Amino acid sequence: MSNTTASDWWRHGVVYQVYIRSFADGNGDGQGDIAGLRDRLDHLDRLGIDAVWINPWYASPLNDGGYDVADYRAINARFGTVDDASAFIEEAHARDIRVIADLVPNHTSSEHAWFVDALASQPGSPARERYIFRDGKGVDGSEPPSDWTSVFGGPAWTRVPDGQWYLHLFDPTQPDLNWENEEVRAEFDSIFRFWLDRGIDGFRIDVAHGMVKDTNFPDTGGRTMILQNDQTLQGHPHWDRDGVHEINRRWRAILDQYDDKMMVAEAWVHPQRLPLYLRSDEYHQSFNFELLETPWDAKEFRTVIDASVNAANEVGAPSTWVLSNHDVMRHATRYGLPNGTPWRKWPIDGPHEALDADLGAQRARAAALITLSLPGSTYVYQGEELGLPEVWDLPTDVLDDPVWERSAHTEKGRDGCRVPIPWSPDGPSLGFGEVASWLPQPDLFADLAASIQDGDPDSMLTLYQQAIALRSEHLVDDQSLEMLDLGADVLAYRRGTITVVANMGSDPVPLPDGTTLLASSAVDGELPADTAVWILGS
Ligand code: GLC
Repeated sequence: MSNTTASDWWRHGVVYQVYIRSFADGNGDGQGDIAGLRDRLDHLDRLGIDAVWINPWYASPLNDGGYDVADYRAINARFGTVDDASAFIEEAHARDIRVIADLVPNHTSSEHAWFVDALASQPGSPARERYIFRDGKGVDGSEPPSDWTSVFGGPAWTRVPDGQWYLHLFDPTQPDLNWENEEVRAEFDSIFRFWLDRGIDGFRIDVAHGMVKDTNFPDTGGRTMILQNDQTLQGHPHWDRDGVHEINRRWRAILDQYDDKMMVAEAWVHPQRLPLYLRSDEYHQSFNFELLETPWDAKEFRTVIDASVNAANEVGAPSTWVLSNHDVMRHATRYGLPNGTPWRKWPIDGPHEALDADLGAQRARAAALITLSLPGSTYVYQGEELGLPEVWDLPTDVLDDPVWERSAHTEKGRDGCRVPIPWSPDGPSLGFGEVASWLPQPDLFADLAASIQDGDPDSMLTLYQQAIALRSEHLVDDQSLEMLDLGADVLAYRRGTITVVANMGSDPVPLPDGTTLLASSAVDGELPADTAVWILGS
């Protein structure tokens, strides 16, 4: 029985993440933009994706890649104008591609008019009440109000000249908004409507678990990570507080006034708390980062897949699958490192000879056939369809991510997964644009260029194109999943008429009967190590 209607496209869609600054440069300034994106719509169309999610494209000084928004109703001049955005939305819709915008409600840029106003205003003034300003501790107030630390390293409080401190869970140029303030809430209602009225189909909500703080500001006693699932069930003074659900409901009520809209949460919370965000009057879905943190191991994959599907089913939400995004090491490289490597530190700490790039590439092909065949929706990060690896050895003088400085050079940060896309094998930025790109591309990107891969039956791009096409034909209508036991090193499951088998061990295993629809590498009677297949009718 088909459960596919126009209004639930997001339940099983393939969503392609566009990191706009690195996608395609249409205006020759070395950074990606909307003009470049419009020029490359064919690539997305031929990939067969259902939607694009565009990382923040708003006016911003780009201190944190656009997650520092100076004006939510304006497009960054480097990327284009609101009219360009509207034209893009229209063109995407004409190709049946939905457009998901990225909204950043936890903080603004320090260049936002509200923050400029707050700094120019008195302590206790309404302008300061839009943010979280407090007096410091100690006799002269010279100690921060609490020991909270920024996700990017260093203290989460910065002092202003009149002696008060403001909170920033991220960079000092990203002051946290005060969500206790009705004016802030009303402003975001209006921002949602602004973009919905321009045809946006959905929103990815940044740091969806961070907006509500314990206003007693108790000390936490240590550094707070966000980009990993280390959240507690015990209650934390600024992550995953119950108050966020009221905000979620308010936004959902706005979306429900329009047809066919969705919102997806970026919520790094304890897996047991995630379903709370997915109740029927809250988010439509949430990123599930569990698989991304799972080592290449059949048993562990199976456990995570089962748990994710069950948790989502409990609340009637679809599960989601993510292997890479703009915040983590690309999986083609992660899977080439020995299981258990602390990959955020590895670019600096090494051992660099531990990387087996060919193994990573081989596994990335198999991983594509896994995530594109699971029930729910799958997010594809730009460049993974080309098999791009992490550029872990970027010279430190080009690093742009605030993590590099804020971690006192102990973490290189996230630039290595944000290197511009190679579209063709030649030119100053491999077809990305007409000048050198804002982050340098390594030589090996030339061989991975989209134009080389397009039409090559053995390329990663062809594998993604084929998998996405076959997915819509065979794997969408029936959303059931039945795990199969084909051996300790084998991940196997049935999805309706298709059986998916992934050999995650190091020895070949027998191939089940049936017609092989798609294979991540050549199979010949047996299923080689690190290879996955889709089999029809076994
Ligand atoms: C999210 C984004 C990340 C950004 C942070 C602060 O985690 O994905 O890129 O730095 O929020 O907005």
